[in-house]
Amino acid sequence: MKRILLLSLTVVAVAFIFTACNQTAKNKAMVKKELIGTHKGKEVFLITLTNKAGNVIKLTNFGARLTWIEVPDKEGEKDNITFGFDTFESIINGDPYFGSVVGRYANRIAKGKFTLDGVEYSLALNNGPNTLHGGPGGWHSVVWETGAIEKTKEPTVVFTLKSPDMEEGYPGNMDIKVVYTWTDNNEIVIDYSSTTDKKTVLNITNHAYFNLHGAGHGDILDHQLVIKAASFVPVDSNLIPTGELRPVAGIPMDFTTPHTVGERIGENYEQLILGKGYDHTYVLDNKEEVDATVYEPVSGRLMEVITDQPGVQFYTGNFLNGTMIGHGGKPYNYRSGLCLETGHFPDSPNQPEFPTTVLNPGDTFKSQTIYRFSVK
Ligand code: GAL
Repeated sequence: MKRILLLSLTVVAVAFIFTACNQTAKNKAMVKKELIGTHKGKEVFLITLTNKAGNVIKLTNFGARLTWIEVPDKEGEKDNITFGFDTFESIINGDPYFGSVVGRYANRIAKGKFTLDGVEYSLALNNGPNTLHGGPGGWHSVVWETGAIEKTKEPTVVFTLKSPDMEEGYPGNMDIKVVYTWTDNNEIVIDYSSTTDKKTVLNITNHAYFNLHGAGHGDILDHQLVIKAASFVPVDSNLIPTGELRPVAGIPMDFTTPHTVGERIGENYEQLILGKGYDHTYVLDNKEEVDATVYEPVSGRLMEVITDQPGVQFYTGNFLNGTMIGHGGKPYNYRSGLCLETGHFPDSPNQPEFPTTVLNPGDTFKSQTIYRFSVK
C-alpha cells in the first residue's frame, strides 16, 4: 500500500516538473546541444536555439552552419525556410555550402592566384580555372569548436576556428569567431571577428539559401526583392569580375525598387546570360539601416538583410538541380532558393580598385550581418 502511494506521488511529481518545464519553455529562451556524430575525430553537434517567441533555429558546428530557420507565416503557421538536412550523414555529405560560413575567401579568386607584398600565393582550383569559397577544404568543410553555451538573455552560440598558416594556400595563422544570436524579435544576428599573424586576405560570409514559402515548396521567382544598391559588379564567362562597377538604372539588374526575382531573369541581357540568372555582387549604398528585403506575398513572410559589408552576392540557385534531397525528403530544385551573401566583392585581391580585403597582423576584422524575419 505504502509502495503504491509512493509511486502515485512520484508520478504526480514528475508530471508537475514536466509541465513546469513546458511552461518555462514557452516563456524562456533556450539553447539545446546534441551530439550527432564525429567527423575526422571531432564531435559534431546540432544546436537548437529557441527564442521567447517560441521560434526555432538550428545550427551545427560542421561548417558553423545554419540548418533550420522556422518562422511563422501571416496565419501563424510555422515552416522552415532555409535549406538543410535532417541527419548527420546528409549534413556531412550534402551540399557543401547550404547555410555554412564561407572562408577564407567567399566567392571566386581568378586562376586561384593573388600577390601580397610581392609574394604570389597559389590556391587549389575547384571551380573551372578559379578558386571558389576558400577552396575544397574551406571553412564550410571543417568542424568548428562550439564555444561555451552561455545563459545569455537571448539564445546564442559561439563557433571558433584556428585556420593554420597556408591552409588551402592562404598565408597566416588565423583565429576566427562567429557568434549567432537568435533574438526575440526573430533576427539572426551573425557577428564575425578574425585576426591573423601574417598579412592575408579575408572575405567571410554565410551561404544560407532562403525560400519564404518554406524550403522545398516551389521556386523563388515570385519573391519580391529590393536591394539598396545603385550599381553591381559585372562578370565574365567564368563569373570573375571585369573590374567595372556598372550602374543598375534602366537594366534588369535594378532592384532599387521592388521587383519579383522572376520578372526579368529570362531577359536577353548579357549579364543574366553569363550568370545563368542572377549571380552578381551588388555594391550596397550602405545609407539606410536595411540593405535588402525579400517579401513573399502568399505566406506574407518578409526577410530584411542588414550588414556593414560593402556588398551582397545575390544568387538565384541557378546551379540547383533537384539532386540534393533536404529536410523532410524534399528536393531542392532549380531556382528553389535564393542567397543574399553579404561580404566583399569577388576576386578583390586581384582588383586594385575594389575595397581591400587585406587583413594585417595586429588588426581585428569585425563585421555583422542580420537576417530579420517578420510578416506583413
Ligand atoms: C554562390 C556563387 C554561385 C555558386 C554557389 C554555390 O555564392 O555565387 O556561383 O558557386 O555559390 O553553388
